Amino acid sequence: MLQNRLLIDAALGKPVERVPVWLMRQAGRVLPEYRAVRAQAKNFIEFVKNPELAAEVTIQPVDILGVDAAIIFSDILVIPEAMGLPYEMIEARGPFFRNTIKTKSDIDNLKIAEAQDLNYVMQALQLSKKNLNNRVPLIGFAGAPFTILAYMVEGGGSKTFSKAKQFLYTQPELAHALLEKITQSTINYLKGQIECGVNLIQLFDSWAGVLSESMFYEFSLRYMSKIVDALDGKVPTTIFAKDAHYAIKKISETNCNTIGLDWTISANAARTAAGNKTLQGNADPCLLYANEEVIVKETHAMLKQFDKQNYICNLGHGLYPDLEKSKVKLFVDTVKGFSY
Ligand code: CP3
Repeated sequence: MLQNRLLIDAALGKPVERVPVWLMRQAGRVLPEYRAVRAQAKNFIEFVKNPELAAEVTIQPVDILGVDAAIIFSDILVIPEAMGLPYEMIEARGPFFRNTIKTKSDIDNLKIAEAQDLNYVMQALQLSKKNLNNRVPLIGFAGAPFTILAYMVEGGGSKTFSKAKQFLYTQPELAHALLEKITQSTINYLKGQIECGVNLIQLFDSWAGVLSESMFYEFSLRYMSKIVDALDGKVPTTIFAKDAHYAIKKISETNCNTIGLDWTISANAARTAAGNKTLQGNADPCLLYANEEVIVKETHAMLKQFDKQNYICNLGHGLYPDLEKSKVKLFVDTVKGFSY
């Protein structure tokens, strides 16, 4: 049994004695201890594929920052690779796909991934579970089908994702065929993660914000909803659609348990749109560049605006690599020390 159930209870809407806190991109980026382990692998992809190293950095933030959950160290782009579209991670630039998806035959050539195709993640999960020894919950994750499509069509990061959006506008049927294949692969993958013992699953729709409202519903939310339904409530689920706060009401109508918020929406507006669904977020990661007094003051203000119940404290997006570890820890400690 889990010794610290705060995250799970909050996600399920059960009463908690204090607000749970974890941070998106807590595994990696700000910890010097992470960089030391990363240096043992040849490159990022070898690192992700090494279950011992991946499990080690998964647990680091629990020991070092004192967060209330671990998130498995992996990447959303393992799915395209398992479907037959490999990626590279270029130092200081980000992901790059040598081949991209353009035609029907490109989509036909992709396989629907099975959990066994991602055996290295399954092993990293089992090892992380074992070494965490039920101290805190382990979060599993996947990219939202739209965000995965965006990388597979665009070939890498982009401000506008205009190639990916061109694909949606000019080849909507192909886009849906691709989204369907990604969705099936993601369901297989996440079911495998649940079998390995993850306690909660988060879907990251990092690029939802490039879509118009109607396109978000058509090309993104319906596939996330399908994934949530396929997981059948076996563990609580979180949908994080960055920059799509117009959609909070519609997201709350899916069967997800928690809605992740970026920093562009107030707690009040989010609560009005979400009913009593659990909310997660939403401090601006740049707040952690501020001095200590400002960090504490703003974190207190945020905690007061959200309520103690039905709330998981987090940032509105991932930590930035140049944030100081001591300020990140101050944020975590401030949340843990706050009483309503
Ligand atoms: O949250 C965690 O700490 C768990 C690990 C995790 C990583 N990637 C490790 C990683 C998670 C949850 C992700 C998800 C991910 N990956 C997303 C969705 C979340 C978000 O931030 O919006 C996206 C869009 C990606 C794709 C990706 N992976 C990019 C654009 C990059 C390069 C730039 C960067 O650092 O984000 C990566 C590489 C990556 N993934 C790193 C880490 C720790 C940095 C690699 C390194 O150590 O050099």
